[in-house]
Amino acid sequence: MERANLDWKNLGFALVPTDVNVVYRWRDGVWSAPEFRENFDLNLPMAATALHYGQAIFEGLKAFELADGRVAIFRPDENAARMQFGAKKLLMEAPPEDLFIEACVEIVRRNRRFVPPYESGAALYLRPFLLGVSAQVGVRPAVDYLFAVFATPVGPYFKGAKRTIRLRVDEEVHRAAPLGVGDVKAAGNYAAGMRAVSAAQRDGFDNVIYLDARESRYLDETGATNFYGVTHGSSGPSYVTPKSRSILASITNKSLMILAKDLGYKVEHRPVDVAELGSFSEAGAVGTGAGIAPVGSIEWRGKTYDYGDVPGPVTQALLTELTGIQRGTLGDRYGWLLPV
Ligand code: PLP
Ligand code: COI
Repeated sequence: MERANLDWKNLGFALVPTDVNVVYRWRDGVWSAPEFRENFDLNLPMAATALHYGQAIFEGLKAFELADGRVAIFRPDENAARMQFGAKKLLMEAPPEDLFIEACVEIVRRNRRFVPPYESGAALYLRPFLLGVSAQVGVRPAVDYLFAVFATPVGPYFKGAKRTIRLRVDEEVHRAAPLGVGDVKAAGNYAAGMRAVSAAQRDGFDNVIYLDARESRYLDETGATNFYGVTHGSSGPSYVTPKSRSILASITNKSLMILAKDLGYKVEHRPVDVAELGSFSEAGAVGTGAGIAPVGSIEWRGKTYDYGDVPGPVTQALLTELTGIQRGTLGDRYGWLLPV
């Protein structure tokens, strides 16, 4: 295999064209065979429900080159299940788990030359997505669906940030409602948050933390990640992460809750009052794109809560565990890697 000629060490989270994508269509009650394509455009009806009524959900997952040169995808079964959960909520037809995984595996294999080298620390990001494609003007679920996967090599999500990121609590915008679709990776949730994230970036922050929409009191998550803080009790560190009906159930966070316990930390998955910001010694923003982005500071109501400009010891330990498993240097004790 001859690797693509890219500056692997300086990739950001930006679209780099790759060789092949795949499209499946749900028509007449069955999923089509995969269509592998070199053209990255889609031909859709103007009246597709995805375009007008938001029947559009997506996933994000990564394939890593391991230390021994093999390539593996991290927890694709979890992404398949989350897409099914989202599809159910938006009355869409979801791809079965085996089809979802087959699509991801094939896209990694067929774009092998775009999997960043182990030493670069970068990864191949996979973007599966599902669209309602029936042409209709009435507001009701589509009959026909399109499921596709493309890939792009990525480096750090918060490229340009220092070793830790700066967040601010947003009190102007709610990302999602408790009885809405904040727990689904629905395209519209990201449009809903763009004005908050853009304003924060204009003011020099890397992203925002949203508050819950019912009371504007509890921490939800950032625009692209879940969140944790670290507290210290008599029994040692606690990994404290918000429980809320309006946040996405992050697969990274789910994994970190397990690894935190393995490290002997207490895990508190519960509503987290914004007033607790002052009780954290460390904080992190976690997701597939971001990995674990150590949080250096959070601004709330004009006050800055400082967590340091280098990752703290708990964050460092979690980073070592997670990247060690993802890169195959620590052993895959939970069976989280799917070798391709
Ligand atoms: N929250 C939001 C809003 C996200 O977009 C993401 C990214 O996928 C996450 C959390 C993290 O989820 P995961 O760890 O499954 O990638
Ligand atoms: C991810 O981390 O996979 C995401 O989807 C976050 C962002 C790119 C929307």
